[in-house]
Amino acid sequence: MDIINTLEDLRAARKNMTGSVGLVPTMGFLHAGHISLVKRAVSECENVIVSVFVNPTQFSPTEDFASYPRDLERDAALVQEAGANLVWAPTDQVMYPSEYQTYVSVEEITKVLEGAMRPTHFRGVTTVVAKLFNAVRPDKAYFGQKDAQQVAVLSRMVRDLNFDLEMVICPIVREKDGLALSSRNTYLDKSERQSALVLSRSLRKARTAFLSGERETEKIRKSMEEVFAAEPAARVQYISIADPSSLKEIERIESQALVSMAVYVGKTRLIDNTILGMADPNLDGFDH
Ligand code: PAJ
Repeated sequence: MDIINTLEDLRAARKNMTGSVGLVPTMGFLHAGHISLVKRAVSECENVIVSVFVNPTQFSPTEDFASYPRDLERDAALVQEAGANLVWAPTDQVMYPSEYQTYVSVEEITKVLEGAMRPTHFRGVTTVVAKLFNAVRPDKAYFGQKDAQQVAVLSRMVRDLNFDLEMVICPIVREKDGLALSSRNTYLDKSERQSALVLSRSLRKARTAFLSGERETEKIRKSMEEVFAAEPAARVQYISIADPSSLKEIERIESQALVSMAVYVGKTRLIDNTILGMADPNLDGFDH
């Protein structure tokens, strides 16, 4: 498996590719969630580039940039096994050389939810993804529904800045017991790991309420809060029931609603979501 670090080598490799090119942006320490994106890309594109870059501009000074887990050799082996062509792992210096001062920011929809809690986060995400798009020039780019607001923000950026590519959004991969896969799950100890099931359990409760006809979001939210009340080790930061594209909170669900949340379990901040009005087989398909 080729691991490429410089822009020159990436451009040379890109020039030699014939046929469609898929890009899977990641911050590495790959798990089955990331690999599901890579496999989807491999099934749809003749060439697949996986970027691995722990992007400093999307972490605030108090977040876990320095301690974010990293293992490039292992990532490259997993990417190769999944059938991709190359790993693009630029250094911080390649992405943000000294005197760097250009940023991409999406306005309204970055001010709520994750953006309200992490005010500089999405500016970092859109900037780095715009740079990855410019460097790779993919035909298709693959993202996970796990980060629902990231999907909404990047889709907005692609339309607003006329990026000539297709966004492909892949379902959330979960553990058998319902926990959404995340690199940050490695921070959970055994009892926290058990408490963390409260996120998916509350989403299932919301889906059950919706499927039985409930459309008032206040009622759906209350039923979720009951689930959290029974799990004191989890501290809810927010629960949102909003329009999936505008991310505006809604009172009555007409067609679809994004139910999303951020929850602290111990010191670990976890996010999860589901879209009501859309099939979610990985959530509906098991019993607790
Ligand atoms: P990272 O957290 O490494 O995630 C890379 C991609 O994998 C994202 O599109 C994310 O939504 C997806 N992903 C993570 N866990 C998943 C799961 N359980 N099921 C399905 N997909 C999952 O998201 C980022 O990196 C960064 O913000 C990035 C877009 C790379 C920009 O730096």
